[in-house]
Amino acid sequence: MEKKTLILSANDVNQILETYGLNRLMDTLIKRTTDHIRSYDPEKTEIPIRSGFNYENNDPGLIEWMPVHKKGDEVVIKVVGYHPRNPQKYYLPTILSSISSYDTTTGHLKGLADGVLLTALRTGAASAVASQVLAKTQSSTLGLIGCGAQAVTQLHALSRVFDIKKVMLYDVDDKAMNTFSDRITMLDLNLEIVFSSINDILNTSDIVCTETSIDVGTGPLFYNLKTSDHLHINAIGSDFPGKVELPLNFLKQSLVCPDFLEQAKIEGECQQLEDSEIGPVLSDLVKHSEDYVYAKNQRTVFDSTGWALEDQIVMDLFLDLAKEFGIGQEIALENISEDAKNPYSFMLKAVSV
Ligand SMILES: NC(=O)c1ccc[n+]([C@@H]2O[C@H](COP(=O)([O-])OP(=O)(O)OC[C@H]3O[C@@H](n4cnc5c(N)ncnc54)[C@H](O)[C@@H]3O)[C@@H](O)[C@H]2O)c1
Repeated sequence: MEKKTLILSANDVNQILETYGLNRLMDTLIKRTTDHIRSYDPEKTEIPIRSGFNYENNDPGLIEWMPVHKKGDEVVIKVVGYHPRNPQKYYLPTILSSISSYDTTTGHLKGLADGVLLTALRTGAASAVASQVLAKTQSSTLGLIGCGAQAVTQLHALSRVFDIKKVMLYDVDDKAMNTFSDRITMLDLNLEIVFSSINDILNTSDIVCTETSIDVGTGPLFYNLKTSDHLHINAIGSDFPGKVELPLNFLKQSLVCPDFLEQAKIEGECQQLEDSEIGPVLSDLVKHSEDYVYAKNQRTVFDSTGWALEDQIVMDLFLDLAKEFGIGQEIALENISEDAKNPYSFMLKAVSV
């Protein structure tokens, strides 16, 4: 029986990305996400709504856990912290996270990995999957409202499935906009980047991603602004009760598709809608994409609250690649004594020497 845990530190995760290639990784992740969602069966994979602790230690903060149970195989749990004052106050990312994977035959912890980069990657990949169904195939102008960490992987993922030629940026923080092009140099994209207003972004873009750390109760980001008729929005930042980015009237004019319905009704843009106003979930979009071709010509929203299935997909991908490349450290983390019924058995050995 396996006794060791494969640990993927931040360095290991970075090394996997460098060895495999950034674009190849994102392409593989988008494909795996599409395939897994297409074959997703809630009878075989249990995904409860996440839970957590929300607190005010001077600044708002939240630590939550996102479990997924693939029956007869594994349980993956992501623990994720959301502390929007982190970048300014502590030079830390807003989202800090780790992901663990357990064998359901024995309960053994198979793997433990950084969840910061993995979250950013899987959130980008999920938007690419949804946008491929809901956005115009020829989409070339992308608006990014909120230019932090998630904006980087939103652009990366979308640039792998659309021929993005122009990116329009808006953030309340000038520094986030000013540093954006430097933060994406490794993507080697041939893009026009313009600083813009939310008004112009909505008017001109084919696809918009909203990934702001807007405070609870202060949304939406805009009211009554004109948008292109076919605008598709990936709403990433609404992931907590009372935290919304999009106005109700825009949602009512749009086909709103949540990643995880029950969670989105509590934490996502869907918290503003009646059940009858909510469109198909992401798995329906992917499984029956031909039924939603019409949606490419109308306003659509992917209500992305973050689905634990996406964490399982990205975790399994990194564990597979780590084994293939021999990256990571195998550690006897759990105290598995030689005598399963004696936790002190290691001391008996010491005495006999
Ligand atoms: N849906 C998901 O699966 C998922 C995954 C990860 C993060 N998120 C959410 O995405 C959001 C962004 O995360 P991040 O890691 O990029 O954070 P970040 O702190 O790196 O970036 C957030 C940016 O939003 C900007 N901002 C805040 N209020 C704004 C406003 N009113 N208008 C315009 N810009 C504003 C900030 O200045 C900052 O630059 C967070 O709300 C986070 O909870 C969602």
